[in-house]
Amino acid sequence: MGVADLFDSLRPKSETISDGVTLLRGFADSGAVYELMQQVARHAPFRNQITPGGHIIKVATTNCGALGWTSGPGGYRYRPDDPETGLPWPAMPAQLANIATEAAEAGGFPGYHPNACLINLYAPGLKLSSHQDKNERDRRWPVVTVSIGVPATFQLFGDSRSGKPINILLQDGDVLVMGGASRMAYHGVKALAAGQHPLTGDKRYSLTFRVT
Ligand code: SIN
Ligand code: FE2
Repeated sequence: MGVADLFDSLRPKSETISDGVTLLRGFADSGAVYELMQQVARHAPFRNQITPGGHIIKVATTNCGALGWTSGPGGYRYRPDDPETGLPWPAMPAQLANIATEAAEAGGFPGYHPNACLINLYAPGLKLSSHQDKNERDRRWPVVTVSIGVPATFQLFGDSRSGKPINILLQDGDVLVMGGASRMAYHGVKALAAGQHPLTGDKRYSLTFRVT
């Protein structure tokens, strides 16, 4: 075991970051998640959506579950069909839903049954600007994020869009639960640093589960 791995193994498996925010290190079996995600992407390929203002969203996305998060000239919205294919989004694999349910429970939200899962694909250098997840109608439930591949720094800003964030390193298999008092917290992801992961190469994936 190298020194970095040794320090990693000494970090707590479950950590309360702030009110309603729990980090579960290595909670998900990333090999299994990666395989299921590839199956989703065979039916609903990753694509670059366009913001309502006409800009390309460089982080590529797809969805699984009853509803999928979409962006276009008409705004941001959840819809049951994939606008690229006209087909319903692929069903949410039970194994993925279970990870989200168990993580939410570990974070203090028992009985979580997400009906939407947005999957983001980050190439090196891509970031996600600070935002709130506010397109969901039901804010009682947390957003649960599973990270796969190259590590990224998640930034939790809180009540205001900018300022000094709490930086959270999200590594392969880590799960972040964000709900309760922090459900509407501003957050973002720093530009993906160069890295290599045996499953994903130089990429990072995040699966964000929601109830909407
Ligand atoms: C998001 O906030 O929608 C995604 C967060 C992440 O990729 O970890
Ligand atoms: Fe978000």
